[in-house]
Amino acid sequence: MASARTVLVRNIGLLATPEGGAPLRGAAQGAVRRRRDASVLLVGGVVAGVAEGGEIPRHPPDVAASGVEEIDAGGRLATPGLVDAHTHLVFAGFRQHEVPLRLRGASYGEILAAGGGILSTVAATRAASEDALFERAVGFVREMAGHGVVLVEAKSGYGLDAATEEKQLRVVRRLASEPGLGVGLVPTFLGAHAVPPEYAGRADAYVDLVCREMLPRIAAAGLAEACDVFCERGAFTPAQSRRVLAAAAALGLRTKVHADELEESGGSALAAEIGAASAEHLVATGDAALDGMARAGTVAVLLPGTSLYLDRPFARAREMVARGVPVAIATDFNPGSCPSPDLELCMTLGYVKYRLSPEEILVAVTLNAACALGRGATHGSVEPGKSGGVVLWDAEDLETLAYRMGSRLALRTIR
Ligand code: NIG
Ligand code: FE
Repeated sequence: MASARTVLVRNIGLLATPEGGAPLRGAAQGAVRRRRDASVLLVGGVVAGVAEGGEIPRHPPDVAASGVEEIDAGGRLATPGLVDAHTHLVFAGFRQHEVPLRLRGASYGEILAAGGGILSTVAATRAASEDALFERAVGFVREMAGHGVVLVEAKSGYGLDAATEEKQLRVVRRLASEPGLGVGLVPTFLGAHAVPPEYAGRADAYVDLVCREMLPRIAAAGLAEACDVFCERGAFTPAQSRRVLAAAAALGLRTKVHADELEESGGSALAAEIGAASAEHLVATGDAALDGMARAGTVAVLLPGTSLYLDRPFARAREMVARGVPVAIATDFNPGSCPSPDLELCMTLGYVKYRLSPEEILVAVTLNAACALGRGATHGSVEPGKSGGVVLWDAEDLETLAYRMGSRLALRTIR
């Protein structure tokens, strides 16, 4: 303990953070504690004390005052490290050639049905070496870290065969232990992302493969913590999705659903029924399914960058808050529907398109996002015992952070 790096961040103009380890919802979606003239003491990356009004947290007895590194926050805003709870981080190639097709009127679903879309990234990812995938993903994670992100969920789903899905998840594991990257990774198996070409017209047979072979191997190797499924017309039906998630739950994985991205598909109702940790996208979700999610405590992970990029409607975030569904916001970073890893931009979209308040947005990208990933105990707030870091922003308040669209305001992350 005595050798653990001890850091005192002082002269924080405003420390804004949610509190606790459980998702915040309804009126509490915007429950942010504000401390003026604050300071935070971190020992070995864990918050040891927080003070305000110019006070300094008392050092633990075994920490010599001389061994404390001081960081002057210059009167700026500080928040918890951000959490990106939904990304498709590991892939080869980009899909820039799809944009002109979409601008000429082809829909996301039509491009996929014609063998492009996700399936073209599958072909590229199958062909790529593990090292090449790793090198690219490192670059993306660095970009995310530059936006104040400390924890990233990363899905497989561009393999659609056991070997490639495992290759993607091994890359996620390598990223998690890459020295100097300083970003945590949460691996999710998304084998049911699309029906692979070799199973065209035989989706149920592919679901059998996912349930009987891929999931048990991946769970046994500890390569994933959670299992996701793309429940949508053209991908998997609610019945197929239910089979995949039941098999995953039986193996001890958390469950989540890509639900109602293009039309209401039954995915959000399924998520509520099985008590999934989260349901994601939710652009087309009706009130009954929202009420079910509120009862189940399922976190809504909203992806405004995807609505923007696909020129689609934005999720009804205000209605979700009103109905007591805990809301998180994430990037959905992927080569098709959202080629941007910028969670700061998503915060601004949350402000002007979801009409969430700056406080509700902060909770959506910190505590609620952490809870969707099963990390509420360690991430999402600046409180004693938590290890999710502190971000210093080139801003004085949360309003500015939400307002400055497209600027990179994250100055420094202390972990
Ligand atoms: O969340 N909808 C499914 N998956 C991704 C897109 C993946 C892709 O287009 O490559 C999404 O939008
Ligand atoms: Fe996605």
